[in-house]
Amino acid sequence: MLRIAPSLLSADFGNLAAAVGEVASETDWLHVDIMDAHFVPNLTIGPPVVESLRKHTGVYFDCHLMMTSPGDYLQAFRQAGADGCTVHVEVGDTAELLAEAKKLGLRAGIAVNPETPYEAVDPFLDQADLILCMTVHPGFGGQSSIEDVVPKVARVRAELDRRGLSADLEVDGGIDEETAPTVARAGARVLVAGSAIFGAPAPWEAVRRIREAAMAVIPEG
Ligand code: DX5
Ligand code: ZN
Repeated sequence: MLRIAPSLLSADFGNLAAAVGEVASETDWLHVDIMDAHFVPNLTIGPPVVESLRKHTGVYFDCHLMMTSPGDYLQAFRQAGADGCTVHVEVGDTAELLAEAKKLGLRAGIAVNPETPYEAVDPFLDQADLILCMTVHPGFGGQSSIEDVVPKVARVRAELDRRGLSADLEVDGGIDEETAPTVARAGARVLVAGSAIFGAPAPWEAVRRIREAAMAVIPEG
């Protein structure tokens, strides 16, 4: 199973519902980037926008919380209609945050920055529903993916498989038709893409092309 999660960060913020419609035929996930201007030097959207968007679509909202204090907002995002919330391992309190997210009925994810080593996520693999390996430094769309992260993706995949864990393995940043095969080969099965999708003339076609490029290297197709 391979999933493409279009990142709304590269969509027209004045017309988010239409952006969802542009990809809805090709995917049932949307990646929602929440930035707090502390953990990353950018500020995006909060619960009211998620709540407004929820009225327009039933797709899975994969919320990526680039926040220093995500615990203060998990409940608000859940009430707004988030399906999954991913917190960064760099902010600490990971076990507590994962437990809190699950208690609220969210799928609970952990994200790891490019320079953060594998060892930081290892203790939490069996508590998380999703592991997100950042392939760019978080904060902005449109960056090139950092190839040095690929061995970490492969290591998370190997360890999930070794332990028989079914958590999703997601990558985020600089994913397009060219880079999708590399991360898929390493074992990623949820590929986030922003600019490659919403920067394309036909976003739904871009989703399809990225999926096809990745599927071509996945053994069981
Ligand atoms: C970056 C965000 C990403 C971003 C990816 O901090 O977490 O989700 O939208 O954008 P692209 O695909 O353009 O790198
Ligand atoms: Zn993201």
